[in-house]
Amino acid sequence: MARRDDVIFDDLRAIQLRYGFLPKAELKGLSQRTQTPLYQIHCVASFYPHFHLAPPAKAEIRVCADMSCHLHGACELRADLERRFAGSRPEDVQIRDVSCLGRCDHAPAVSINDQIFTDVGAASAEQIARKALRGEEVAEPHPQQSRVNCKADPYESAEKYGVVRELAQSRAWDHVLAQLKAAELRGMGGAGFPASMKWDLVRKQRDPVKYVVCNADESEPGTIKDRFIMTHVPHLVIEGMLIAGLVTGAKRGILYIRHEYAMQQEILGEEIRRCYQASLLGKKILGSDLDFDLEVFVSPGGYICGEESALIEAIEGHRAEPRNKPPFPGQIGLWQRPTVINNVETFINVPQILARGVDWFTAQGVDGSRGLKFVGVSGHVERPGVFEVPMGTPMREVIFKHSGGIRGGRSLKAFAPSGPSSGYLPASMVDVRLDFKALADAGSMLGSGAIVVCDDATCMLDMALNAVRFYRNESCGKCVPCRVGSQKMTDLLVRWTRGSVSEPQYRADLALLDDLSQAMSQTSICGLGQIAPAPIQSVLKHFRAEIDAHVLWGQCPSGICFTAASRAGEAQRVGIRP
Ligand SMILES: Cc1cc2nc3c(=O)[nH]c(=O)nc-3n(C[C@H](O)[C@H](O)[C@H](O)COP(=O)(O)O)c2cc1C
Ligand code: SF4
Ligand code: FES
Repeated sequence: MARRDDVIFDDLRAIQLRYGFLPKAELKGLSQRTQTPLYQIHCVASFYPHFHLAPPAKAEIRVCADMSCHLHGACELRADLERRFAGSRPEDVQIRDVSCLGRCDHAPAVSINDQIFTDVGAASAEQIARKALRGEEVAEPHPQQSRVNCKADPYESAEKYGVVRELAQSRAWDHVLAQLKAAELRGMGGAGFPASMKWDLVRKQRDPVKYVVCNADESEPGTIKDRFIMTHVPHLVIEGMLIAGLVTGAKRGILYIRHEYAMQQEILGEEIRRCYQASLLGKKILGSDLDFDLEVFVSPGGYICGEESALIEAIEGHRAEPRNKPPFPGQIGLWQRPTVINNVETFINVPQILARGVDWFTAQGVDGSRGLKFVGVSGHVERPGVFEVPMGTPMREVIFKHSGGIRGGRSLKAFAPSGPSSGYLPASMVDVRLDFKALADAGSMLGSGAIVVCDDATCMLDMALNAVRFYRNESCGKCVPCRVGSQKMTDLLVRWTRGSVSEPQYRADLALLDDLSQAMSQTSICGLGQIAPAPIQSVLKHFRAEIDAHVLWGQCPSGICFTAASRAGEAQRVGIRP
């Protein structure tokens, strides 16, 4: 009997749990047991950062190197840890970079033996690592979090799942689609695609088997809002998915969550159990003839898994390499069946709109924008965190009122409206509104609402390099423009941060950068390669004098590059993916 590919991760996780890594003999055994060619198993196991093909060190220290942690001294932290463990054997201690751990509001974040620690200094990280070295178990703290009341929750103290209770009786599926269309609900995962169109497409497919997938992968630096939503209003996520299932005729839902969100996995698992007990999930929902099953799928890791077709590949047990589109998942998605895929925040908007009406939803926005928006704010602000604000709120209000302004009394230099993919905007544009069109008109994007703030001591070339390096590290390598282009861009920016490039060479570099940017954005298979040029292009547009100073005069106006400390940190700053 051929095995189902999708269970491969369970097997691999079980082996890793037992041995701490994936021994060759075990992989061979798995191959024989499941009649899966060994190369196929290896091909999957070697793709995901979560799996170790060699025995890990006793203390595996991984320092998040991405935007928010970089702004909070991740380079220095790593260099300090390297010094503290200078004499250690490689089998005892390994220190490496890691991509965003989803704790950008508590930077810098570090993972030690896959447990995440936040707001860490070198001394506390050393202490935890020494514990691991002594063979003691290290466990990340799980602070008790009281639920925050969100404006987005239509139930407050009323009975939850009111929309589903009503729909199970009325079966007004067309009305649901009409309401979502009238509300102009758009996707909150980055691309902003109209939700009603996606659902309508799936509803119209004749296939008797369909799926609903919630994208809770949230791995772009600065993006932390879905973590907050799943912690505080998990019932709305489940209700949104359930409504999608009922409307489109899908009977199975999968909530795809990043493996670093252990606490949210627990919260959602508990809520799902409650729903099964209350007959809100499973067969014959609330005594009707409607069925919908829901499960949580824990991602084996990697930013690319958030791209919808790569995510589907991951659930199917393959390498998370994006598919060519079309066909879109709405036509041919999970296991080749029509599939609705939406972001966590998109799903929670659905019960809000249906419970309170389109007029209420429209009125939540300001200046012509609609609805509420959860934003994550990190970087150089006094109060990093997640805030629920009206769509259309000026960025100035988010940064200076909700997040308490720039920390240490410094001034604002730049901000990324949504992590590396939005590029950077200068302080002079801080009155831009948090809105799809307003940010697109400003040459940026609303994206997922991951605002990263830079103070006046930040080097913008350094920040562009940090962002490009992130894309280089996370490129899945399937297509040439992205795989090669992101590496070439990184090399080029590294040279610029080192100065001593002649003027003719600089002109040639700029021309090459433009060619690369065009080739990448026009020919890459997925959004990762298409957007990778955005950070450096935005810095060239808004901070050109700063780049000129580096390249032509060997000066970093912020005093970040060309220092002994930065040279010491250079290898880590641009290091190849560990
Ligand atoms: C590299 C890459 C990573 C992505 N990561 C996420 C993610 O973590 N969460 C998410 O909802 N969408 C992510 N997206 C967008 C998804 O491909 C897709 O558009 C989204 O899940 C659709 O949901 P929405 O329409 O509700 O926004 C990513 C896209 C790319 C190209
Ligand atoms: S653009 Fe990059 S991440 Fe996307 S498929 Fe191509 S190589 Fe992979
Ligand atoms: S946790 Fe470091 S950038 Fe997100």
